[in-house]
Amino acid sequence: MASVSETVQNDSGVWDTRVQQFHGGQDWRFLDNFVEDFSVTTNALGTPKAALEAAKEAVNTCHHYPPADQEPAKTSLAQFIWPDDYSVNHGRLLLGNGASELIDLVTRSAPLGTWKPGPWDVQYKEYERSAETNGRAILQPQDTTPANLTCIVNPCNPTGDYKNIIELKHWIDDNVADGGFVIQNFFYFGILKDESMQPWLSPDFRADSLTSQNEFIAMLYQTRRISVYIIHSWTKIWSCTGLRLGSVVCPTLAHCEVLKKLQVPWSVNSPALAFLNEVVKDAAYMEQTWELTSKWRAEIIERLKPLSDSIAQAMNDEEFAWKFYGKSFLSWIWIDTKSKSIADQVVFRARAAGVPVRSGSPGYNRPTYIRVAVREPSKVDVLMDALRAFELEEEE
Ligand SMILES: Cc1ncc(COP(=O)(O)O)c(C=O)c1O
Repeated sequence: MASVSETVQNDSGVWDTRVQQFHGGQDWRFLDNFVEDFSVTTNALGTPKAALEAAKEAVNTCHHYPPADQEPAKTSLAQFIWPDDYSVNHGRLLLGNGASELIDLVTRSAPLGTWKPGPWDVQYKEYERSAETNGRAILQPQDTTPANLTCIVNPCNPTGDYKNIIELKHWIDDNVADGGFVIQNFFYFGILKDESMQPWLSPDFRADSLTSQNEFIAMLYQTRRISVYIIHSWTKIWSCTGLRLGSVVCPTLAHCEVLKKLQVPWSVNSPALAFLNEVVKDAAYMEQTWELTSKWRAEIIERLKPLSDSIAQAMNDEEFAWKFYGKSFLSWIWIDTKSKSIADQVVFRARAAGVPVRSGSPGYNRPTYIRVAVREPSKVDVLMDALRAFELEEEE
């Protein structure tokens, strides 16, 4: 039988980590007793039903090529992002086979030079992978040198940090070299001006997004030749990671044409386009997301705290109490268990109970951390049962 650390590192061995970047979300296929995936940051409500049906229906047209202009799905998404003035912005929007395709596309199209991540302790790794394979020099987050290509994941996966639009604009001003590129990536979750004042459940999420900052983006390009790209992964908010859906908003029409020229044709398939065209109309799903995510998230933290307390007690050291990170509106919790051994045991036990969580070790190199997705309470019961066994054994 594999040791705890082997199981944690390999995630069933599907990633060739010599050449691929590790991601969560693979365990479920290998668990006979699978109940729920806590290792990915997808929406706890599951896949929106009408959109799923539209995707299934579109499989019947699989003997035809998907539309080369990505329509009508692209216009529908533009209307979702800019309900008031989508037609002005539509030409700068391009869809991709998940955000991952677009991350790589934009990185390849940027002039060679240095690369820097956002200011967070650690952030989603695909940007760095793409920068490295493109031969860029990697700067550390703390480096004050402005970089040629800067990628900020905001809100940040996995740490849950967030900059509001004012802070973000300052950060871009200070950290990007003239003539540089900046990519902002966020799940299209609601974006907060301030953690304590505004839950992500607010339908005002557009106002705090760079997508509402046309003048700022145009000014950066005209005065400093800084190109700002905004990338969205749609596979999390609409829980459709297997379908692959992402988009990029380019700074100008000309930038978008450069990407179109590089992008392989038909990269978004017919079921994914049909799904997108339908899902943007599902206002009830968004309302429910805003209503339930932060509530369930807070409940999970409350349920984990006694476990953390009992571990600290058993260790006779309150330094071992877990630290819970991330804004309240997010669909996951980034947890420092303060001990690699405890983090490994949680990952192992959760996986054995059919409710895998994400270890902070592979990829993120934070071995004392785990990332736990927000899920509905009945699924959290199973996770808590798995960890209760751990609690008892620790006490024995
Ligand atoms: C911040 C961030 N950006 C992009 C992606 C990639 O998403 P996609 O499934 O759309 O390729 C992820 C996936 O976890 C992510 O966390």
